[in-house]
Amino acid sequence: MTITRVGIVGSGIMGSGIAEVAAKSGHDVVLRSRRLTSAEATVAALEKSLAKQVAKGKLEQGEADAVLARVVPTEKLNDLADCDLVIESVVEDLSTKKQLFIELNHICKDDAILATNTSTLPVVEMAMETHHPDRVCGVHFFNPAPMMALVEVVPALTTSRETIDAVMAFAEACGKTPVEVKDRAGFIVNALLFPYLNNAVRMLEAGTASREDIDKAMKGGCNFPMGPLALLDLVGLDTSVAILDALYDEFRDPNYAAIPLLRRMVTAGHLGRKSGQGFYEYS
Ligand SMILES: NC(=O)c1ccc[n+]([C@@H]2O[C@H](COP(=O)([O-])OP(=O)(O)OC[C@H]3O[C@@H](n4cnc5c(N)ncnc54)[C@H](O)[C@@H]3O)[C@@H](O)[C@H]2O)c1
Repeated sequence: MTITRVGIVGSGIMGSGIAEVAAKSGHDVVLRSRRLTSAEATVAALEKSLAKQVAKGKLEQGEADAVLARVVPTEKLNDLADCDLVIESVVEDLSTKKQLFIELNHICKDDAILATNTSTLPVVEMAMETHHPDRVCGVHFFNPAPMMALVEVVPALTTSRETIDAVMAFAEACGKTPVEVKDRAGFIVNALLFPYLNNAVRMLEAGTASREDIDKAMKGGCNFPMGPLALLDLVGLDTSVAILDALYDEFRDPNYAAIPLLRRMVTAGHLGRKSGQGFYEYS
């Protein structure tokens, strides 16, 4: 299975990042958003980011032009019909993702691989919505996708070895380091990371320390590149609550039970960087 044409569904934080990674590594990319204007805005942001890289001498102008020419924005799911691999990166909600897999199953060519960038949800649930559950897999990129080396490749119980190998090869072709992990909520990274992030919110809610001091402590004391509250803002608080809920549903471990403050912030529309307000303010 050779992957040359990649479809991305969803042009949020992760869909945009994965589109950039795939295009920069030479793949043709069809970027689908529900509204054409959103997909076009993502391509415009990519153009800006490439121009900055050219200005800094990190990229040749010719390369930047070629990357941009490889990304086609669309609002039509039908435009994914001839993709070898489709990666969905829409909102972390199982029923939305399952519905999307039902539609992709009808639209995509028979030998296409359908993949999900879910952080926690059961890959097998999406696989079983298709006629080819052997060709469905998790491919979990990290945020920001252009910078983070890791990709978790997550076979469902139904996924064939051929599919896993093709997705591992795709991740490597994107310049990433893939690891293979079973279809369990949170895979490796989020299963280990989220109790820590959740407990940082518990600590803030208890008034143990200020937001700045909690973040400063984990940076200075553990040599982490950013503190837990800043990281939650980067991930998105809505996505974080969805991740915690999926982890709690599966393991019933109280460390995964989203702290009430986190849930209330989401209700208030304080989603982190993407809304301009989270634990910190962003302009
Ligand atoms: N944010 C992270 O750090 C991170 C990291 C790795 C993986 N993920 C996963 O990536 C996926 C997307 O997360 P994100 O951070 O890009 O979120 P986001 O909020 O930035 O983007 C979500 C996208 O889903 C679309 N969407 C929302 N409702 C929809 C619907 N009903 N039908 C179709 N599209 C819909 C939105 O228009 C948007 O394009 C999720 O599965 C998430 O768990 C997120």
